[in-house]
Amino acid sequence: MTNIIFPFDSKISYEQRKKAMMQDPHLIWLTGLSGSGKTTLALRLEHYFFCKGFKVFILDGDNVRMGLCKGLGFSEDDRRENLRRVGEVARLMLDAGLIVISAFISPCEDDRMAIKEMVGEQRFIEVYVNCSLQICEERDVKGLYAKARQGIIPHFTGISAPYDPPASPAIELMTAEETVDESVRKIIEFVGPLISI
Ligand code: ADX
Repeated sequence: MTNIIFPFDSKISYEQRKKAMMQDPHLIWLTGLSGSGKTTLALRLEHYFFCKGFKVFILDGDNVRMGLCKGLGFSEDDRRENLRRVGEVARLMLDAGLIVISAFISPCEDDRMAIKEMVGEQRFIEVYVNCSLQICEERDVKGLYAKARQGIIPHFTGISAPYDPPASPAIELMTAEETVDESVRKIIEFVGPLISI
């Protein structure tokens, strides 16, 4: 087959970018049920790191599904494609020198491991935002659990679609028992030294 694609390497090295950005890019991957607290934690972390002078950006399920991943649903294949696109974007952001915080249910261990491989194991920090289904359902911030129980929303994670807890997350937070401040502090203590140069 005729080759029609010719990728090239930038003249600026990754080391040069890290130095210019004054940080070591990492992807902080928050995974957990809907309503477990991923977005709340992502926003708090972003604010904290930004105020400390880090160049940081959030990728969030509800937001990317309005654009980059518009049209994708919640079947296993669509979730995989959603996360594949997010993984590719995260990789580009890391290569550009950013700290990336992501908030996606990402229910499938294989999909999360594919992202880890895509961005490079040493840049991937998996954070399990652990909160029981019962509590997430009681909170029902978006009113989606009630709709899922009524059968109005199909393939709803935790109700009619599975969630595989991470096998070996770097950090596990128990958001029903800890305060937001405590959870944020745990992430900062782990991540802070890794992203600083
Ligand atoms: S993921 O499974 O592909 O990682 P993602 O994080 O992008 O999911 O999107 C999750 C958000 O989509 C939820 O917070 C919720 O607001 C909304 N949503 C709509 N339908 C579903 C569904 N069937 N299962 C889970 N979340 C859903």
